[in-house]
Amino acid sequence: MVTPKSSIKTLKLNTGALIPQVGLGTWRSSEEEGYNAVLAALKDGYRHIDTARCYGNEEPVGRAINDFMKQSGVQRSDLFVTTKLWCTEFKDPKAALERSLKRLHLDYVDLLLMHWPLAMKSGEGLFPRNADGSRKLLPFEEWSYIDTYKAMQPLIDLNLAKAIGISNYNIPKIQALLADKGVTVKPACLQVELHPYLPQQELVDFCKAHDIVVEAYSPLGSSGAPLLKEKVINEIGEKYGVSAATVIISWAVARGTVVLPKSINPVRVSSNRKIIPLSEADMDAINGIQKTTSRRFVCPDWGIDIFNSDGHFKPMN
Ligand code: A2P
Repeated sequence: MVTPKSSIKTLKLNTGALIPQVGLGTWRSSEEEGYNAVLAALKDGYRHIDTARCYGNEEPVGRAINDFMKQSGVQRSDLFVTTKLWCTEFKDPKAALERSLKRLHLDYVDLLLMHWPLAMKSGEGLFPRNADGSRKLLPFEEWSYIDTYKAMQPLIDLNLAKAIGISNYNIPKIQALLADKGVTVKPACLQVELHPYLPQQELVDFCKAHDIVVEAYSPLGSSGAPLLKEKVINEIGEKYGVSAATVIISWAVARGTVVLPKSINPVRVSSNRKIIPLSEADMDAINGIQKTTSRRFVCPDWGIDIFNSDGHFKPMN
């Protein structure tokens, strides 16, 4: 099998490791879809795959990674694999990661992220609910996201995760985490929803200043890719003869973030890793979109009001 050498640019994590700037997102890629998308992506030159315990696809994702390594001769050390610790698994991240690794058929992940800064009641499935339908969350005083993070730190010395990081945090939460005396390992990455309707520039700048790489999930607006209908994006795409997706992904790369477009279609998977240079005027035009449309697409009903009405994160304790 001929495997194109990857031309995807990388960023350096605060661990010294390199992370490919474009990775394949796999949320909502189920069994065979997930397997086929990951295999197509790796054959096409992707070297970065992002999955999570709660996506329910670690097994097919891992199978595709292992089949690809066998078929291509590409080494595990040439790949960057991320999974995420789910909110019910906060007390024993080691056991949770070992279960993930077993499903993935891997010895380690390159990055383990805490999926959300909250803890849900364990032992009642992945999405426990109270009788009234609300989510069964643990009070912050009982167990905080900082406790979870501290329990993740030893996983690096155990060689189960090369790096650890966080997801869905806002600035106050990162500040609280970094200020805690028990936090000895700086998060390598923050993964959040990021796209032209939700650029979160302040958060991106804050992380840059603290040497934390920011990863963009749902860069096209998640299901149905609503951002692809945006006029400004399409005008720029027409100017360069590229798709709206290429414009958004190139914008994400140009602003120094990692970007994780999800697709199960091999043609779209392949085209999503092609990056074009954007002019300063293009960047300004894309950065300006949020002045007229500001929107968050991923708003889970955790039962905690963690977003402002305009869709932006608001501080919670
Ligand atoms: P599909 O998986 O059928 O390609 P996000 O990355 O923001 O989560 O967006 C995922 C959505 O965008 C999915 O519905 C996916 O559909 C679609 N998508 C991904 N890449 C492209 C593309 N290049 N053109 C059109 N739609 C795309």
